[in-house]
Amino acid sequence: MKKEDFIVFNKLTKTLLSKRLSHKIKLKRALSIILSHTKCNRGSIMLKNNDTLEIVASTNAKLIGVSTPLDDTRSPAVKAFKELKILNLKTDCSKKQYKNFTTFLITPIKVNNDAYGVINLTEKDNDQDFTDKDTKFISKFVESISILIENLYLTSELENKNSKLTTTLDELKKTQKFRDELSNMIIHDLKSPLSEIIANLDILYRDSYVKDNLFDVVDAGIKGAQDMMSMIQNLVDIYKIEQNNLILNKNLEDINNLLQETVHKLYSLIIEKKQKLYLNLDKSIPLTNIDKLLILRIFYNLLNNAIKYSPIKKSIYILTQKIDNNILIEIKNTGVGIANNQLTKIFDKFYSIQRGQDNSGLGLTFVKLAVETHNGIIKVFSKKDLWTKFQIFLPIEEDKNVLDQKILDLTL
Ligand SMILES: Nc1ncnc2c1ncn2[C@@H]1O[C@H](COP(=O)(O)OP(=O)(O)O)[C@@H](O)[C@H]1O
Ligand SMILES: [Mg+2]
Repeated sequence: MKKEDFIVFNKLTKTLLSKRLSHKIKLKRALSIILSHTKCNRGSIMLKNNDTLEIVASTNAKLIGVSTPLDDTRSPAVKAFKELKILNLKTDCSKKQYKNFTTFLITPIKVNNDAYGVINLTEKDNDQDFTDKDTKFISKFVESISILIENLYLTSELENKNSKLTTTLDELKKTQKFRDELSNMIIHDLKSPLSEIIANLDILYRDSYVKDNLFDVVDAGIKGAQDMMSMIQNLVDIYKIEQNNLILNKNLEDINNLLQETVHKLYSLIIEKKQKLYLNLDKSIPLTNIDKLLILRIFYNLLNNAIKYSPIKKSIYILTQKIDNNILIEIKNTGVGIANNQLTKIFDKFYSIQRGQDNSGLGLTFVKLAVETHNGIIKVFSKKDLWTKFQIFLPIEEDKNVLDQKILDLTL
């Protein structure tokens, strides 16, 4: 490199690496350095932007921002960009393409085989043509600064992505805020009036003034309101667990009793569907430390599903068993079943295979989270059209006092 070229190259490097200047200014200055060094009066720099080549610096400020689609086959800039070849319009293109210019040279900005844009140079002093020597020099020159322009291009792309991410993040924060407000509204504003509806319907149901033919109507009202209450409870607990805001109220409880209580609550539905229920409860299961209301709702959701998703006259099996230091609770029902590709999705929030009036797709999401807050695990097995089986493994946790007592016994 000649000393004079070296000085220009140095100037360009400094400009392009400057920390003070914006991308726009850097490219504008780089262009003017290149123009004066190649003795050209007009020119522009185009950089790839999605599927176009966009003018990012130009001697004609009006052209900045103008873009040419990369599938424009008539554009010499696109040709040079795609073929990674320097193009001299006078010698390499038809007359039509350069009719407005006396001289025109398009040099691709490339690093290895990746093109980032082109540099257009035109109107050499005294209307001279670009000679072979010019072409060689310019191509070498552009090649040596290409890596700097690549750097600029990649940083500006990163900045774009970053600003898009920030926008998405802002939107997410807004959605999150809305969700929080919504669940707060549900907890505080919907639960109490709903409890009131249920309580009043209950009174109506028991009241001897209600005509016989209206019992069913009131009963349906109570069931509908209870379904809604259960969905609200599930939603509220899912949010609390997800935000680590659920405090377990643990006490020593008998799992078998809780299952029986659940059966009792849902028995009228089983009778209605003429289903058969088989209970096989292991009496040797010790009391274990759990949050009773949460576990009751786990059982309620699972048994409710078993009844809901079994056709009439089918069978439901409930089994408990002590396995090592765990309690296995199994609820199996026949009919319908779940296809293999849906098995992994049923625990997702709002996932319902048949979305309907009383399906929210929240039941199993709640069940899984509530089991896990008890350090348990839940498994599902199913054979399409035949049966579905949910298994919960709860670690047996004896009361701290009981443990202390045992240690005391041993040491005495
Ligand atoms: N015992 C079951 N038998 C067959 N399918 C079931 C059973 N339990 C759950 N499913 C399927 O899993 C989906 C998700 O269940 P769940 O989260 O309780 O939501 P929902 O019952 O409100 O639809 C249900 O829509 C249903 O298709
Ligand atoms: Mg359900």
